[in-house]
Amino acid sequence: MKILVLNGPNINMLGVREPGIYGKESFSDLLALLERTAKEENVEITQFQSNHEGVLVDKIQEAYGAFDGIVINPAAYTHTSIAILDALKAVGIPAVEVHISDVSKREAFRQVSYAGMACKKTIMGKGIAGYREAILYLKEICNEQ
Ligand code: DQA
Repeated sequence: MKILVLNGPNINMLGVREPGIYGKESFSDLLALLERTAKEENVEITQFQSNHEGVLVDKIQEAYGAFDGIVINPAAYTHTSIAILDALKAVGIPAVEVHISDVSKREAFRQVSYAGMACKKTIMGKGIAGYREAILYLKEICNEQ
């Protein structure tokens, strides 16, 4: 099984950016967790991070026919990007939305998730462990098919 993990703007600043909200674990810690999960769960994981909306759209399009599942944290684009929503709908690959913080308890402008409308599940407020949970969920639904 091949899973694409996509991270949006500022996720590469984990550990440095607002640790009171996003925690002290760094982006490298996230990459290590993905590597560990890939080995333990016997899945192939490709991670890609970009600060640019169109680049994320390109990566979703390129995933068509190449990946079985997508884990996506669109970061700030969650709340603004119809382009990412449309790309996820276009490829139709099972996707799970992850947020490190619990966006449901944050500002009003974070209460809309466009990407989430094309996702099978949303995991939030669990720190970087949420990515592992998303991968396990994708594995589970993929095995059911
Ligand atoms: C985030 C939540 C977003 O609202 C924010 O813009 C981010 C990170 C999260 O992982 O908690 O950059 O997606």
